[in-house]
Amino acid sequence: MPKSLTITRPDDWHLHLRDGVMLQGILPESARDFGRAIIMPNLVPPVVTMADATAYRSRIIKALPKNSDFQPLMTLYLTETTDPDDMAAAHASGLITAVKLYPAGATTNSDSGVKDIKNVMPVLEHMAKIGLPLCVHGEVTDPNVDIFDREAVFIERVLAPLRQNLPELRVIMEHVTTSDGVDYIGETEKNLAGTITTHHLIINRNHLLVGGIKPHYYCLPIAKRESHRMALVKAATSGDKRFFLGTDSAPHSDPNKESACGCAGVFSATNTMACLAHVFEDTGALDKLEGFTSLHGPAYYNLPVNTDKITLTRHDTPVSFPEKIETGAGPVTVFDPGFPLHWSVG
Ligand code: DOR
Ligand code: ZN
Repeated sequence: MPKSLTITRPDDWHLHLRDGVMLQGILPESARDFGRAIIMPNLVPPVVTMADATAYRSRIIKALPKNSDFQPLMTLYLTETTDPDDMAAAHASGLITAVKLYPAGATTNSDSGVKDIKNVMPVLEHMAKIGLPLCVHGEVTDPNVDIFDREAVFIERVLAPLRQNLPELRVIMEHVTTSDGVDYIGETEKNLAGTITTHHLIINRNHLLVGGIKPHYYCLPIAKRESHRMALVKAATSGDKRFFLGTDSAPHSDPNKESACGCAGVFSATNTMACLAHVFEDTGALDKLEGFTSLHGPAYYNLPVNTDKITLTRHDTPVSFPEKIETGAGPVTVFDPGFPLHWSVG
């Protein structure tokens, strides 16, 4: 069993950094281990225009710890009134790396999202033409569809028809949580990849619901049954280049999580690499960790891989991570994998 593992510095292909004092408090947690991250645009109000993304990027850069090389890769929040010229200019200038599709009402701050995919077809066609990738929150919002089925139904009703109509559009199906998602991506040769979160590799819906409701495990898409978790672990540890890390680390203050109507989101930035090393070691696939965290993402996004390295060290006694990160917006609970962690970065 190796005592240490040196890999190319990882990137996070799906991250929520928020704004203001929350941003200030949680940004160091991602900047410590990760080289770059795709920054989600679901602020209030959302990051819709090139001007919004320019201003948000400056606020992130300003909040970075001194001497940090962390690079935020900005996204625009797709609305039914998105201006394709503004979007194309943001892409051409190098400001944005992707555009994010939230079905309206699917998750946190998604009210300005897309009600009907038909209404954004001209924008998506333009994106296909200029090679601008689309990150997709893949869940339907139809109240008649059970929350545990919303991803599978999204593939059937929205994603498969969209990709049939517009095969040239480069799509990232984000935070895949089902074997349906894994299979759909696995069947595809071109222009489709999937991100997988740390927490969906570790928890299933029992962790959320058995023995009392655990609000810090509530996220969207919701954790599914164990067979789905196993399919995700298989995909992540397989070495298949179509799957890579997007933590979806999404901080909410504890009072907002521990509430009668708690917010969705798991905050895993602090201990993600330790959790992943555990999962990959457990699966006998430590040699596949670098691909998942550091190589497959840049390859799909046509970006160079990071030039520096990190070293993961395995300790005989468990490593402790903070239980909470104190921020100016209140405490944020760090993801508890439910087992001792023996790995640390550095
Ligand atoms: O759990 C989640 N939290 N899922 C999302 O899609 C959004 C995110 C957030 O912004 O809190
Ligand atoms: Zn997210």
